[in-house]
Amino acid sequence: METHRVLMPLGGNIYDQPSTFRVSVSCNNMLLSAFILSLILWCSNALQVIGGNKTVVQGGTVILPCKLIDSTELLNQISWQRKTRNKPQTDNFFTILPINGPRFVNGDDHRFQFVGNFNEENGSLQLSNVTLLDEGVYTCIFTLFPSGNHKTEIPLNLLVPPVTHVKDDLPILGDEEVSLATCTAAGSRPPAKVRWLIGTLAGKVRATTNSTEHANGTTTTVSSLVGVPTREVHHYEVQCVVTNPALSKEETVTFTIQVQFSPRDVNISVRSTDSFQCLTAANPKATFTWNRPGNSLPQSAVRVEGATLQFLSMSSDLNGLYQCEASNQYGRDHGYLYVHVTSGTCTACWAILGLLLFLIVIGVAGAAIAWKFSQSPRIEEIRKVFRRYEKTPTKSQEGDAVVEETEEAPQQAEGSL
Ligand SMILES: *[C@@H]1O[C@H](CO)[C@@H](O)[C@H](O)[C@H]1NC(C)=O
Ligand SMILES: *[C@@H]1O[C@H](CO)[C@@H](O)[C@H](O)[C@H]1NC(C)=O
Ligand SMILES: *[C@@H]1O[C@H](CO)[C@@H](O)[C@H](O)[C@H]1NC(C)=O
Repeated sequence: METHRVLMPLGGNIYDQPSTFRVSVSCNNMLLSAFILSLILWCSNALQVIGGNKTVVQGGTVILPCKLIDSTELLNQISWQRKTRNKPQTDNFFTILPINGPRFVNGDDHRFQFVGNFNEENGSLQLSNVTLLDEGVYTCIFTLFPSGNHKTEIPLNLLVPPVTHVKDDLPILGDEEVSLATCTAAGSRPPAKVRWLIGTLAGKVRATTNSTEHANGTTTTVSSLVGVPTREVHHYEVQCVVTNPALSKEETVTFTIQVQFSPRDVNISVRSTDSFQCLTAANPKATFTWNRPGNSLPQSAVRVEGATLQFLSMSSDLNGLYQCEASNQYGRDHGYLYVHVTSGTCTACWAILGLLLFLIVIGVAGAAIAWKFSQSPRIEEIRKVFRRYEKTPTKSQEGDAVVEETEEAPQQAEGSL
């Protein structure tokens, strides 16, 4: 085969060579020429370039396989072309020559590494830190003597995992359907599937999903959990489940529905003979302020710490109405305490006779506080006194008092959307 070398056109760009072999023989023996040609045709028919179809997750490493098999011809060069998102025009970017070895053609990109073996007619190339811009078709070309170029195309497909998060839509207690939470699977390729596990809320909430495709070929899928923000759904645990081929396993984000509501059922509980605490249900948690309507708080005689009002000394100056205001960004509600000190300096008088608890409840009176009062016979007395004074019907019972800042275990989600 050595003598065939002289027949190769010298110099020039190998990419310009036609795949069919050009013979420029000045041979006087036509029979020999015919024999050579038929030998070439026989050889070309048998050889094959084996490639592949590769899929890789963004950021990963992939081998673009390329191997010449069943060739008896002389290998002159292996070269690579690409047509990718980044290089929409065919781009010759890599060659491997028997003597000079591998080299970049139009600028270096060290993410590519030759992992084949020229002598074994293996042109495989490794690409690391793969990005979306690398997606496309790679062409591996074996330049043989005498038959010329033989190539195969290797499609490179990119997978991009979604970035998942669940956003609290801060639904406000009400009777209109609103979005309770939104689950987003951003920038994935192919598009991600998003679903909700809602357990026993099935039929009470539903999911609405839509997706947007970006110019770079990724898709963002957004699914909102829609329902009426009732007390029933408050504190309910749901799960957003995202599936995508770029993820090794499905992604589950657990979310607790938080219905927002203003302070309600403000109650004042007796903590000790001289200390009172303001209680309310609210989401987010209420902040409390104590004051005396139409009067200033006697700074030296009382201490206020958040929800707690404590009397430090006793005097009839302290007599009167005290107001606790509970508020959050959705509203405010009030509770009242009436203090009456009978004999000026007697601290023991903090008992029933010395103190009249006077509770005016704006809105609904809490069942919880009534229960708390019934725990102590002494306080029971106060409650009775208070009942006589205050004709406010204690209308709400258990049913109305369920929405509280409870820490009870959220219900399990089983069903799905
Ligand atoms: C390559 O594989 C991907 C995914 O496995 C497939 O979607 C695509 O159609 C294949 N392409 C070719 C050219 O076979
Ligand atoms: C691939 O990415 C890693 C981490 O970002 C970096 O350390 C490394 O140098 C990169 N490799 C190449 C060949 O660019
Ligand atoms: C694709 O485009 C979107 C929107 O412009 C962007 O948020 C995202 O990061 C891009 N993804 C990649 C992998 O470049």
